[in-house]
Amino acid sequence: MRKINIAIDGPSGVGKSSISNRLAEHNHMTHLDTGAMYRCVALAIRQNDVALDDEMALQRLLDTIRISFDGPVVYLNGNDVTEAIKVNEISNFTSKIATIPMVRERMVALQQKATEPKNFIVDGRDIGTTVLPDAEVKIFLSASPKARAERRYNEYVEKGIESDYETIYQDIVARDYQDTHRKVSPLRKADDAIEVDTSDLTIDEVEEVVQDIIDKAL
Ligand code: C5P
Repeated sequence: MRKINIAIDGPSGVGKSSISNRLAEHNHMTHLDTGAMYRCVALAIRQNDVALDDEMALQRLLDTIRISFDGPVVYLNGNDVTEAIKVNEISNFTSKIATIPMVRERMVALQQKATEPKNFIVDGRDIGTTVLPDAEVKIFLSASPKARAERRYNEYVEKGIESDYETIYQDIVARDYQDTHRKVSPLRKADDAIEVDTSDLTIDEVEEVVQDIIDKAL
């Protein structure tokens, strides 16, 4: 079977990671979670107290940072940060540092190099438009902010994490705004991407629809 790369883009909380994990397993491909990479940069900036306007310090940090994955486990400079990068404060800060051109240039270069051998499912915001404009399959997952907030709220309830629906909803709306309005590589559907609106679909149904699209490309 020919080796391909698959780009999966879409807004926060649309289920890109879960779908990408499932598809990677089913198709014997490797999942690259680019959001986790930006989250690692955000955490490293916080840990090292780097001021966002200090270009030299930021450059140094980007030069020395090591991000690696072992399945779902994310390592920053050798330390397991899988949970630390998911806290709300880091999520919001990530959207902010993801607007810095120097950060994006570095992440895009790393992502392009990592996926050169093909056989990757890459999820993010700018994969179909900027990172892998020649990806053999491009999917744009969408869902209304309300549907995404409800999913996240139910996820927290299931895990026993205390949360407030209204705050989750407002965070999603704010991150959407930041992701779609930034100057460099804003979130947008690539012209040749196939949009799948997941608002009224279960995760199994989304997987089925996307798998169908992949099968046609193989
Ligand atoms: O996908 P995830 O929610 O983990 O991404 C965290 C943040 O990283 C997003 O809100 C977005 O601002 C940024 N991001 C990005 N480009 C990507 C992936 C994520 O700007 N390719």
